[in-house]
Amino acid sequence: MSIETLLCPADQAGVARAAALLRQGEIIALPTETVYGIAADARNGSAVKKIFAAKGRPQDNPLIVHIDDVKMLPGLVSEYPERAQLLAAAFWPGPLTIIMPRGPEVADECCAGLDTVGIRMPSHPVVRQVIEASGCAFAAPSANLSGKPSPTTAQDVWTDMQGRLPLILDGGPCDVGVESTVVSVVGEKPTLFRPGRITLEDLERALGEEVELSPAILEKLAEGEVARSPGMKYKHYAPKADITILDGTFEQYKAYLKAHAGQNPACLCFTGEAAELEAMGFACVEYGREGDGAGQAQHIFRCLRALDEQGDRVVYARCPRRDGVSMAVYNRLVRAAAFRVVTL
Ligand code: TXA
Ligand code: MG
Repeated sequence: MSIETLLCPADQAGVARAAALLRQGEIIALPTETVYGIAADARNGSAVKKIFAAKGRPQDNPLIVHIDDVKMLPGLVSEYPERAQLLAAAFWPGPLTIIMPRGPEVADECCAGLDTVGIRMPSHPVVRQVIEASGCAFAAPSANLSGKPSPTTAQDVWTDMQGRLPLILDGGPCDVGVESTVVSVVGEKPTLFRPGRITLEDLERALGEEVELSPAILEKLAEGEVARSPGMKYKHYAPKADITILDGTFEQYKAYLKAHAGQNPACLCFTGEAAELEAMGFACVEYGREGDGAGQAQHIFRCLRALDEQGDRVVYARCPRRDGVSMAVYNRLVRAAAFRVVTL
């Protein structure tokens, strides 16, 4: 399958072209505040199927439906629970996906057989303009090939998707850099399924109650354990590079590298550390300042792709914190590292 792909600016003409394609049942790629997405009309099953084909995505991994106004909810959800309303008031539009009971109009292909649906109201002006111009609520996963790091620039989308869809809108680099926070309000207790810029503490503050942490976020699921959020069971964001996270101080990190210099490793380090490491003879990619979760989140996927571009080398990564926005960074990085974490 190869089709001609147009990469064009996300200006008025680009938005109009995207909206027309969506209405015709086509798929297109576009920027959001989190990562780039591939959109299709969520009510059109054959359009949604094209997303799975273009990404090589497993059919059992459900998609998030994007809206630009809560007026679009009827038909998409069968219930708009009070907890969802509290979260929407606090964080929409923004990088939060809320899992709710599924409505009758969402194409089966979006939900992978579940009776729930993830809904998100993005804040990025381009997505909002495309939703408004097309009148479509659209299903949109990240615009990477399945198993690759999510794309945060139009160029990264082009690398993965050229020849697989007709249009990529270029709206510059994404601000958040990691995918939306996914929280479920179905079931007894609200549960965080995927961490993002909106943190566990943010959710608890808005809800005024405790939010459960899905065990798949920080640890590898045990053999046979079922992920309540299907996406968490995959080895996601797997770069070619062979990454190991080293949990310890910078001094301990340098000592470990010295001891393993024979592997000719590259460093995925904090901003400001490269000069010293390069002087020791190691190639470096800096992914943000130590302790700055939001800054690290913005760059982590681009950095994983940059390491990929260097081929299949051994990489030792500095360990992000596991709380606040850093939880999202740790969650993505530990998957890229296939859960290899060495405590120094
Ligand atoms: O920021 C984002 O959310 C981006 C942009 C494009 O909006 N989209 C995105 O979609 O990250 P995707 O498909 O790459 O990730 C969706 C995640 C998956 O982990 C999936 O398993 C989970 O959300 N998910 C979707 N619907 C669900 C449901 N009904 N129940 C549980 N998990 C669900
Ligand atoms: Mg994804």
